[in-house]
Amino acid sequence: MNILVLDGPNLNLLGRREPDVYGRVTLDEVRERLHALAESLGCRLECMQTNAEHVLVERIHAALDDGTDGILINPAALTHTSVALRDALAAVEVPFVEVHLSVPEAREAFRHESLIADLARGRVSGFGVESYLLGLRGLVSALTPAASE
Ligand code: DQA
Repeated sequence: MNILVLDGPNLNLLGRREPDVYGRVTLDEVRERLHALAESLGCRLECMQTNAEHVLVERIHAALDDGTDGILINPAALTHTSVALRDALAAVEVPFVEVHLSVPEAREAFRHESLIADLARGRVSGFGVESYLLGLRGLVSALTPAASE
């Protein structure tokens, strides 16, 4: 199973950026933990972070033809602003899980709306780096046919 992990704007600064909100774990450390979990779940990960909306949109488009089975995405600020991101995810129809380190709904009003939540297979927020790990577990389980089927 091939899982694409996408991180949006400013998440390259994780660990140094507003540590009271996002913690001190770096994006490299998040990825290390995701790779360790992916190995135990028997799936392959490709991780990408970008500060550019169009790069995210184009990587999602590529998922149509590159064998991506599922997407784990923290779109960061684009969660609340990007119709283009929403349209890209709707276009490719690859199941995705939305993750956030914080609980956006508990913060400023402009973070309360997610433009992608209604399309998501699932959503995990508020657990810091654990949001990613829980999200990966959920995504892989959603993509794995039940043993009884
Ligand atoms: C975030 C929440 C967003 O509102 C914010 O813009 C981010 C990070 C989170 O992981 O909690 O950059 O997606």
